[in-house]
Amino acid sequence: MTILVTGGAGFIGSNFVLDWFAGHDEPVVNLDLLTYAGNLQNLQSVATDPRYRFVRGDIGDNDLVARLLRESAPRAVINFAAESHVDRSITGPEAFVQTNMVGTFRLLEAVRHWDGRTPEFRFLHVSTDEVYGTLEPDDPAFSEVSRIAPNSPYSASKAASDHLVRSYFHTYDLPVLISNCSNNYGPFQFPEKLVPLCIHNALAGKALPIYGDGLQIRDWLYVGDHCSALRAVLDRGLPGEVYNVGGGNEKTNLDTVRTICTTLDKEVPRDDGAHYADQMTFVRDRPGHDRRYAVNSAKIQRELGWSPTESFQSGFEKTVQWYLSNRDWTDQVTSGAYRDWVEAQYA
Ligand code: NAD
Ligand code: TYD
Repeated sequence: MTILVTGGAGFIGSNFVLDWFAGHDEPVVNLDLLTYAGNLQNLQSVATDPRYRFVRGDIGDNDLVARLLRESAPRAVINFAAESHVDRSITGPEAFVQTNMVGTFRLLEAVRHWDGRTPEFRFLHVSTDEVYGTLEPDDPAFSEVSRIAPNSPYSASKAASDHLVRSYFHTYDLPVLISNCSNNYGPFQFPEKLVPLCIHNALAGKALPIYGDGLQIRDWLYVGDHCSALRAVLDRGLPGEVYNVGGGNEKTNLDTVRTICTTLDKEVPRDDGAHYADQMTFVRDRPGHDRRYAVNSAKIQRELGWSPTESFQSGFEKTVQWYLSNRDWTDQVTSGAYRDWVEAQYA
């Protein structure tokens, strides 16, 4: 048996593949286009593993996906492939429509028309809590029946893909599963997202950009806990169902960045004796910035027996340690096109 993972060279996908091989002998085919966010270095440790096969390509390439399905006959497709950064979706929404909506549609079509599916086959679509939009301070956390109300081109394109995936269950009996997860952090996250960006900038003596007043709230989950949730959904989830996944760690961005700074103060104190938090700099807010996300994970905990293992403190310490021990990784991914993005975004 085999699983076909898409977007496995990105942040969550590569953590998923590495975690998978730590606990399974089952082969993995990784289909990834290697956009700016995909990095084969993440999977260097398994590159020559006989259980692993990498294929460079687009989830929207029907012929390629049809061929991979025929060749590998997977028992599951896990769709991580996406454009994933909200700020990029604001400056260039078209790529989000193309990959997240059209790409997911074509992937679904290839799977629908593949005649090798067994009754155990599953299509697991990895989505985000951002499809639910934003919460007021006293609102209950997002549940699986919360209204879908996306506010950015990123979240709108993910919501559209979730709807398509759902429709393939009801219309074509495709055994789909959808997970909507909160903000992840951990190893191999591209340093355009808040956590790795701040670690990288702090160490480089640069500003730590805080959008608006910094009081926006995110619900943080360690990436390894997201991967265990996905394995639970794949193993025990009911086709057609949606599972919300969250860390139960609601923090303001100011708190999150301060946690990173105090961990760095302990691990690599600044030469001048000052604190990394002194580098925090308020900058122009993101247009349409969602104020608060919080996820109610009661369903996946109750029905699938999943719960996270890392606390906010332990997960952040582990993450900061990883970036400190893997500075060559950050150096490599922050060359070239990355510099152009940072210059344009924070000009
Ligand atoms: P990422 O941007 O780090 O990685 C995306 C990967 O997809 C990259 O390897 C990229 O090369 C690949 N890709 C992009 N377009 C492709 C295409 N057309 N065909 C094949 N591969 C393509 O993203 P991530 O943070 O790892 O997120 C993975 C998934 O999880 C996304 O669907 C995202 O919406 C979802 N998600 C992310 C978070 C988070 O906090 N990062 C939280 C919840 C859900
Ligand atoms: P991000 O990591 O981009 O994830 P998302 O927008 O998907 O939640 O951002 C997390 C939070 O941090 C979000 O409220 C935006 C904010 N943020 C900053 O304040 N400064 C930054 O430079 C970035 C990238 C994000």
